[in-house]
Amino acid sequence: MSALSFLKSLDVFSSLSPASFDRLGPLVRTKKYAANEAIIRRGEPGDAMYIIYNGAVRIPILDVQGREKFVASLGPGEVFGEMALMTGDPRSADVFADGATECIILDKETFTALTKTHPGVAKFLTQVLARRLGESDIMASKTVGKYRLLGELGRGGMSVVYSGLQTTLNRTVAIKMLSHELSLDEEFSKRFRLEAQIIAQLNHEHIVKVYDTESAYATIFIVMEYIEGTPLAKMVETATLPWDQCRHIISQTASALQYAHERGIVHRDIKPGNIIIAPDGSVKLMDFGIARVNQPGEQSDNEEVIGTAEFMSPEQIRGKSVDGRADIYSLGIMAYKMTTGRCPFEDADPYVILKRHLRDPIPPPRDINPKIPEDLNHFMMRAVEKEREKRYQNCAEIIRDLTPRESVMLTQPKSVRILAVQSPHAMDEKLDAYLKQVKEQLSKMPGVQVTIASIPPV
Ligand SMILES: Nc1ncnc2c1ncn2[C@@H]1O[C@H](COP(=O)(O)OP(=O)(O)O)[C@@H](O)[C@H]1O
Ligand SMILES: [Mg+2]
Repeated sequence: MSALSFLKSLDVFSSLSPASFDRLGPLVRTKKYAANEAIIRRGEPGDAMYIIYNGAVRIPILDVQGREKFVASLGPGEVFGEMALMTGDPRSADVFADGATECIILDKETFTALTKTHPGVAKFLTQVLARRLGESDIMASKTVGKYRLLGELGRGGMSVVYSGLQTTLNRTVAIKMLSHELSLDEEFSKRFRLEAQIIAQLNHEHIVKVYDTESAYATIFIVMEYIEGTPLAKMVETATLPWDQCRHIISQTASALQYAHERGIVHRDIKPGNIIIAPDGSVKLMDFGIARVNQPGEQSDNEEVIGTAEFMSPEQIRGKSVDGRADIYSLGIMAYKMTTGRCPFEDADPYVILKRHLRDPIPPPRDINPKIPEDLNHFMMRAVEKEREKRYQNCAEIIRDLTPRESVMLTQPKSVRILAVQSPHAMDEKLDAYLKQVKEQLSKMPGVQVTIASIPPV
């Protein structure tokens, strides 16, 4: 197998498109090492990364006193020396050929140049790093600034999220490692650095708190409040939501946005994937300022638009400067998803969706679900106007239009109480009437849901 097809077969290179491989091809070189020959020396500047093509390597891991703790060994397809591509640090360990060994070498300089033209190449860095950080502490230090990484919480389109410990306060935090595809994008990086301080100052009950940001491994880590709860994306995956719950979620998101917009911060990526519903049913909005908008036509490496096509406002798609009204458009689309179970424009090809946001009228939500109440229907139709001058001009207007009518539904029971009623006759009519009365009374209390179940007599 040629070196290039060998690389193609590796998991960590799965984010690379055929076009990127074509560019990578001439830059790939291989080198043979004799048994026990040193491939990398500790303390040397790191100028390349290595992928084992044939054979194996040994990496003696030293403790703080410099004594050998154990020896790690790596085999074909495994990567080493990659930290050089992310940090300017000198090599932290020696690496020796374990028998005759051949490596594929990627030089830092050519690699860095490639990340600029091919965002998918940058994604590769994130994959390698996430793998390193996920390993049981063999080589990664597993700290990011003041925080110790505990484990992976999940992966999103643009990040890997870890649970972490802020050792000074003994507090659990969530740490979002932004994909190198974002952080190596100069435009994004410039904007994010400008906004980071303001985002960290946002203090609102419906916004996930950002405590800190750290720069490490050539990317940005966002340290934030750890939220237990259910992503809204999961809740709307298979079902529409009750009307009052829709009103509740839209109003709370609107109040978070109103607060941010007043401070000059536009979210840019309002969608169910960026909202977590806390166990008490309240909205927690996250990922302020993370979306990066590509112009349609400018194909990124995996032909994917960053920012979310289904929810993106026309002005964002056109690459114009955006204000809070772009978030209002996306909130309208999110409401559409919650009330009809689908987005107005869906297609396997995101560019088709983007074009339709620009040109096609939104299919009336009531064509899909005729039961949608008037206030929600009115909200959606006004929020998703293509010209932003015709939309709600601010979120306060939305909150005014959408006050929940009835008691608010909880998404997950905060606590469950069981009231046992014993009856000598399982099917007693009086018992049924009594239970019905109990249910009615309890259901009047805000936030209480009642379910009646019977257990067969023993
Ligand atoms: N603050 C947080 N607390 C707990 N879990 C989180 C937090 N932020 C993100 N997660 C989890 O991490 C995963 C990936 O995050 P997500 O926001 O979807 O990534 P992206 O924004 O890159 O798409 C999700 O499963 C999400 O539930
Ligand atoms: Mg997100």
